[in-house]
Amino acid sequence: MEFKMHNQIDKYLITCAFPYSNGSIHLGHLLEQIQADILVRYLRMKSHIVFFICSDDTHGTAVMLKSQKLKISSKFLIEKTLKKHKKIFKKFSIFHDNYSSTNSKFNKKFCEKIYKQLKKKKLLFKKKIFQWYDIELKIFLSDRFVKGTCPRCQSFDQFGDHCEKCGAFYYSGDLLNVRSVLSNTIPILKSSTHIFFNIKYFKNFLKKWIKKKVFQNSVLNKTKEWLFSGLKAWNISRDFPYFGFLIPGFSKKYFYVWFDAIIGYLSNFEELCFKNSEIIFSEFWNLHSKIILYQFIGKDIINFHTLFWPSILEAISYRKPTKIFAHGHITFQGRKLSKSRGIVLTAKKWLKFFDSDSLRYYYATKINNSIEDIEINLENFIYKINSDLVNRIVNLAARNASFLKKNFLNILSKKFIKLDIYLIFINSIPIIQNFYFKQKFCLVTQKIMELADLANQYISNEKPWKLSNSKKDLKKMHLIVSMGINLFRILITFLKPITPVLAKNAEKFLKIKLTFQNCKVPLLNHKIKNFFNLHNRLDLKILNSFFKNI
Ligand code: MSP
Ligand code: ZN
Repeated sequence: MEFKMHNQIDKYLITCAFPYSNGSIHLGHLLEQIQADILVRYLRMKSHIVFFICSDDTHGTAVMLKSQKLKISSKFLIEKTLKKHKKIFKKFSIFHDNYSSTNSKFNKKFCEKIYKQLKKKKLLFKKKIFQWYDIELKIFLSDRFVKGTCPRCQSFDQFGDHCEKCGAFYYSGDLLNVRSVLSNTIPILKSSTHIFFNIKYFKNFLKKWIKKKVFQNSVLNKTKEWLFSGLKAWNISRDFPYFGFLIPGFSKKYFYVWFDAIIGYLSNFEELCFKNSEIIFSEFWNLHSKIILYQFIGKDIINFHTLFWPSILEAISYRKPTKIFAHGHITFQGRKLSKSRGIVLTAKKWLKFFDSDSLRYYYATKINNSIEDIEINLENFIYKINSDLVNRIVNLAARNASFLKKNFLNILSKKFIKLDIYLIFINSIPIIQNFYFKQKFCLVTQKIMELADLANQYISNEKPWKLSNSKKDLKKMHLIVSMGINLFRILITFLKPITPVLAKNAEKFLKIKLTFQNCKVPLLNHKIKNFFNLHNRLDLKILNSFFKNI
């Protein structure tokens, strides 16, 4: 994957995949949102103009069934969930410019518009197909609601559309020994006429487009595999009962949730333009748009984004994503995060035990712009936060601030010594920025910790605590501890996109706004505040109650 880094100011539109409305935000969702948010904050620090959008993915059978179970309407359920999702993202310092819903009137209109365009261009066709039907519940079963034996590798207990063991994607009718996940009964294959999007028409376009270095290599390889193993027309309709938008001209057929979800990227942005008349929709989405469009997705939804989404965009003559970044899955103490086959670790629960910056930092130490899975190990997490954020960074401020307060009324020295260490820090700015831009956040944190070690070594070597016997000594102490505070200030500037709460505290403590630009000039003769606790140390003992709660 190639990145061009330059100094001009660019405009970006950044999206995250839309979390489903049938569940809570969990630590898997947060990985993606935090990765995107760190990039958004970094780009904004570099003065780029960035819009960051996401929505709840509200439609489909899962929401319908859940609301039936709760004896509430689907609409009520998705509205309640939306509020919760929005609230929890803010608590993790993730601020979208527009967080919407795929059930919005903007999305309904957009879906209908695109449907009509596709129809007019003869890209849709009708076909009678057979699908699994739950006789007991009287509904057609989507691929997620049937399980059986993989037709390719014979693995048991696989979902209707793909096999987690061998990676095969198949028609659910080919699945063997099928049963309904919902009622545990054996379903029947029942016929119904559906509307298909003829994606085959876009094969040549896709072949050319995937050469534009839009994805990581691993994603490119997967996409090629699907593309060359034969593209199958995409069923964009679903039968009643379903929670979604009715397809124009039908009374019992709905748009498939993935169809309206994908279009949600467009309608969400249209809604943002509606709310803010200075943002011009066509500037971002016209075929030749210069705006950089970055899309973050998990590795489980690659095909929707690398095949269907660009084909829909091509069909309506819109621009395509500049880059699609896929990430791996979060595993927790070796287990998958999933309702059906693992544990659910919600964002809300996390906040009962830990803070948001700590998770953001921990994730950053593991984010490498790859699709490898990421393991959360809580002992390792606590160790990392205490040793990196507390011992190396916050303590650097604490130890120096105590001398400043005691001897110098919290005022930093007028002069500056030891330029060489300061220069090492300043010269690291382009290195840090390059790592940020490439989303090698693990290297950002690694570099920051290397520098923090240098700063702490400097203070330990200079031993300011021994310098209080004479006026001359005190003068030297002043220079040393002021340097310590200045180095701390640069480190926090580097960390700012990752740990916004800590950075905000540091800004209060230092009485200064932290930017890449102003950190090049040392803070001299500047009064800071009394030191206060900038980030809490974590206690291993908390793990007992954490695990009891799972
Ligand atoms: N609704 C679809 C996306 C539609 S985009 C137009 C969806 N929803 S989801 O709630 O299942 O997932 C939302 C995002 O979170 C996806 O990118 C998904 O890969 C990611 N994650 C969900 N569980 C995850 C983990 N356990 N680990 C990391 N990311 C995971 O897919
Ligand atoms: Zn298989």
